[in-house]
Amino acid sequence: MNHPIFAANWKMNHGPSAARAFMKTFLTQYPRHYDRTVIFFPPAASIETVDRELENRPDILVGAQNIHWEDQGAFTGEISGPIARDAGATVVLVGHSERRHVFGETNEDTARKCAAAERAGLRPMLCVGEKLDEREAGKTKKVVVRQLRAGFSKLAQIDSFNPLVAYEPVWAIGTGRNATPDDASSIHGVIRAELRAIVGDRARAIPVLYGGSVNAGNAPSLLAASDVDGVLVGGASLDTGSWISIVRTRMTAEIPAGELASDE
Ligand code: PGA
Repeated sequence: MNHPIFAANWKMNHGPSAARAFMKTFLTQYPRHYDRTVIFFPPAASIETVDRELENRPDILVGAQNIHWEDQGAFTGEISGPIARDAGATVVLVGHSERRHVFGETNEDTARKCAAAERAGLRPMLCVGEKLDEREAGKTKKVVVRQLRAGFSKLAQIDSFNPLVAYEPVWAIGTGRNATPDDASSIHGVIRAELRAIVGDRARAIPVLYGGSVNAGNAPSLLAASDVDGVLVGGASLDTGSWISIVRTRMTAEIPAGELASDE
């Protein structure tokens, strides 16, 4: 497994005051870790606030939840890659299922946004995942592979690029239903194979996170599943107590045999 990544997607929650209070509590209870990376995706207005709290914490990054595909211009209400970077972001979510299904973002849009992230020096975390009807029709692999290929299709320097991927089955997001560790592993294996087809051996170093109703109870077994390099957490990342329990998840090597099953 790659160095594990714990990513918090705050969605449309925690403006600057709440974000500052959250970070102050979080940082006092979560000293520097050398064996894992934490990423916060706050709303755009809170990126700079979170970044300011992170002095001397290279183990914690801040990212944007979305960017426009153009670098600047007359796009009222949007933020661009360079603006997100200027505010302190080093990562950006691209193609989150709410962007795709609530705001109608297409695979073509995700391709343009990944390219914009590359130009701005941001690492995109490309989110892929099937809807319930696609899963029931046996189309999961096809959907995920299509989203992955499309998302990375417009990169200029694919050979030196350093993206992340998050597999988030749409039916598991915010529903309390999560994929089993075996389900996650099998799709992560498909993603890894497709990444190998795109970037060759470097695919091994691309983190593939799982997201969808992750919480402190199911995080250990999901993180122990093969090819799962981290978790992308929505609801359970909003409260400091629950987020701290998740980021402190013990990795497989630290868990006594037999204990994993009881973590469900
Ligand atoms: P959830 O959201 O953890 O609330 O299911 C995950 C996500 O949307 O990234």
